[in-house]
Amino acid sequence: MANQRVVVVVVTIVVTIVIVVSFIIGFVSVQNPTTKSGTFLDGVSDKIIKDGDEGITQRLIKEISANSIKGYLKNLTSKPHLAGTPADLTQATQIKEEWESYGLSPVVLNPYRVMLSYPDRESPNLIQLINDKDEIVFSSQAIEKPLRPEHNYSDVAPPFNAYSASGTPQGDLVYINYGRQEDFAWITQTKGFNLTGKICIARYGKIYRGSKALLAENYGCAGLIIYSDPADYAKNGEDNVYPNSEWLPGTGVQRGSCSKCNCGDPTTPGYPSIDGCYRVPDDKLDVFKIPIQPIGYDDALEFLGKMAGEEVPEGWKGTLNITYRLGPGLSQVNWSTRMRISTRNKMATTYNVIGYISGEIEPDRYVILGNHRDAWVFGSVDPSSGKACLMEVARVFGKLYKEGWRPRRTIIFISWGAEEYGLVGSREFVEQFGKNLQDRVVAYLNMDSSVQGQYAMFSRSVPLMYKVLYETTKKIPNPNPDEIKAGRKSVYDTWVERRPRVGRNGKTFPHITRPASGSDFAPFTYSIGVPITGMRYMKQTGGYALYHSAYETMHLMETFLDPEFKYHEAMACVWGELARALSDSYVLPIEVSDYAHEISVYVQQLEDAFGANFTRKNITLDYNFDETVTKINKNNPLHVRRVNDQMVKMERHFIDPMGLPNRPLYRHVIFSPNEFNAYSSGSGFPGISDEMFQIELEETPERLEVVKRHLSVISFLISSAASSLEDVSDFVK
Ligand SMILES: *[C@@H]1O[C@H](CO)[C@@H](O)[C@H](O)[C@H]1NC(C)=O
Ligand SMILES: *[C@@H]1O[C@H](CO)[C@@H](O)[C@H](O)[C@H]1NC(C)=O
Ligand SMILES: *[C@@H]1O[C@H](CO)[C@@H](O)[C@H](O)[C@H]1NC(C)=O
Ligand SMILES: *[C@@H]1O[C@H](CO)[C@@H](O)[C@H](O)[C@H]1NC(C)=O
Ligand SMILES: *[C@@H]1O[C@H](CO)[C@@H](O)[C@H](O)[C@H]1NC(C)=O
Ligand SMILES: *[C@@H]1O[C@H](CO)[C@@H](O)[C@H](O)[C@H]1NC(C)=O
Ligand SMILES: *[C@@H]1O[C@H](CO)[C@@H](O)[C@H](O)[C@H]1NC(C)=O
Ligand SMILES: [Zn+2]
Repeated sequence: MANQRVVVVVVTIVVTIVIVVSFIIGFVSVQNPTTKSGTFLDGVSDKIIKDGDEGITQRLIKEISANSIKGYLKNLTSKPHLAGTPADLTQATQIKEEWESYGLSPVVLNPYRVMLSYPDRESPNLIQLINDKDEIVFSSQAIEKPLRPEHNYSDVAPPFNAYSASGTPQGDLVYINYGRQEDFAWITQTKGFNLTGKICIARYGKIYRGSKALLAENYGCAGLIIYSDPADYAKNGEDNVYPNSEWLPGTGVQRGSCSKCNCGDPTTPGYPSIDGCYRVPDDKLDVFKIPIQPIGYDDALEFLGKMAGEEVPEGWKGTLNITYRLGPGLSQVNWSTRMRISTRNKMATTYNVIGYISGEIEPDRYVILGNHRDAWVFGSVDPSSGKACLMEVARVFGKLYKEGWRPRRTIIFISWGAEEYGLVGSREFVEQFGKNLQDRVVAYLNMDSSVQGQYAMFSRSVPLMYKVLYETTKKIPNPNPDEIKAGRKSVYDTWVERRPRVGRNGKTFPHITRPASGSDFAPFTYSIGVPITGMRYMKQTGGYALYHSAYETMHLMETFLDPEFKYHEAMACVWGELARALSDSYVLPIEVSDYAHEISVYVQQLEDAFGANFTRKNITLDYNFDETVTKINKNNPLHVRRVNDQMVKMERHFIDPMGLPNRPLYRHVIFSPNEFNAYSSGSGFPGISDEMFQIELEETPERLEVVKRHLSVISFLISSAASSLEDVSDFVK
């Protein structure tokens, strides 16, 4: 990316970033000497100051069973369960009934009437090659071919990109590599292409598909085709693919949403889709105006192999057996490409399933475990591998509860609806209940796919969750016997060995990625500033090739990805123990100095990326980490609760109520998604990196003002976070 960047002007920023983050160190170990044992109030049970029962950890590890998880997954993947369809509601209802039988109480279905998007089975989406006599020479497949005898695809939704416009654009094809900002910039600026009215074709990978579509629309493409190149999705060759391996066959197609902002129902931006609410009229909706359609590489070959124009540069080549060309158009004179797309937006009802295990002492403090339920097709990885773990964790907590165990705080289990369309269920929920959640949620623990590979754990988290993640994974046995033989006994040991990163105090820790977007944790972060973590076991690099295709089946999971379900078991244990530690520990296992450290890293990255062009002198990175050793009185439950609240609620301070520049719905100044890659949060300050990107393309005085202003906001919010850690009776400094 960086090599394409040309910053055109020296940016003068008269801003002082003063980071004053007070450390709260060691309060867990420090206790006030006390003259009396027991609580500070006469007549109040000592239960109120008891710490969590760590023996529960071993119970969780013992009870959580690979076989049980496998049974859930078999059931969950027996039919396609696309959001808003009867099969999805059937699954929601079954989950509700099962949770009730486990002892969760109450369990509710929480509906939202929202705008989703569906292909038309009667008039399937096709990409056609049209000759000079206006005849159809070739048509792409309407739906994937079943490749296993046990599969019946009659209920499978044909390939589509949700929120695509319908239409039949026809024109010259242009290849735009991965469709990233730098790809578009290169082909238009260096190569002088005018993309207006062209049919653009991009390969899947590197960035969120909706970001490709956003750029394609901005650059004037009449339509966008997205295909999976074997270079990215059949890395062991086109002969070594599903059903004989985990790689994508030529007929496989990656479905997926092209939500414009990944922030819920497009008819109700910022507010919940509840009865009687205002809906944006059709002609004002922020949805794509161009058709977008995914295809497999067997079909892509028919078009790419016939293209005219110059050969593509090295980094743009895939591994199809053709000469990749930029276009425009095809080598046969007057032949063209037509998209026949009937995908339409449609109102539907989606349901979240919500089940509680009430906290005994602080029922108004919540630890939420969430996973989405909807899948593009069978969803054996995304999301049902996570749902199978959620069912297992709910079953085991239900069992402990029936045996008399009570967590200190409330544990809430949520099965989200319509995540795939743009985090719809979770976003509407956060929009409806955000004020309560801001007050009460201690942490949101997300698991989408639980197992995509066997290399090591992977996590996206805010820094407040680092400590509990590390402590938890150290307790969970390594699912791989060979790893244990090699001396790596825990999930943590392999994680830190395979994804090491130098962190605080120069020590090596497992790498944890910044949140941004990508699953249901996002609204909790970018909208209300709740500490989140998301986790899964995954491959060394990238995702899994059959992602969102009709071949993402039980066969894939039980034959290739996790035949013994040991990795599922480990992830369910991690999830369960995180929930136990956060719901039942008297003092929360949170270290605020992890946040201070990360912020200093992000500031450095910002400097590395753009630093020469900030007038260094005037950006003062004045780290004044006061060592405030908070002496906590464990006999005083109100004191403990206050300190717990201060730690958790520090996250809320990074929310700017006005939102990021030009994007009012994204409000977290550190962990919101980037504008042109929703899966990333740039260099830690997305509002700055997005604007700098624009400035590199075209500098305007207005944009420079936006950067200056936003830097000042960030600086202020960091000070605000620091103030939240001050003595509560003396915080105005
Ligand atoms: C800073 O701006 C100059 C042009 O004034 C440009 O050549 C240089 O690449 C920029 N440096 C960075 C780190 O962005
Ligand atoms: C899945 O489990 C539910 C609830 O236990 C049951 O009613 C249903 O029949 C099962 N479906 C399949 C296909 O096994
Ligand atoms: C596939 O399923 C559909 C509907 O569920 C059913 O009508 C059809 O007979 C099935 N086809 C086969 C070959 O089993
Ligand atoms: C690109 O092509 C469109 C339509 O052919 C035309 O209207 C537009 O002016 C062109 N843009 C440039 C920069 O040449
Ligand atoms: C690639 O295509 C060429 C020309 O169509 C053909 O001769 C060659 O055998 C193909 N190579 C492979 C590996 O399929
Ligand atoms: C291509 O189409 C143009 C415009 O319709 C026409 O003038 C031209 O003769 C065609 N060329 C060929 C080779 O058919
Ligand atoms: C830097 O800030 C100081 C004090 O605010 C100001 O006097 C000076 O002009 C600034 N320098 C630049 C290059 O903007
Ligand atoms: Zn998912």
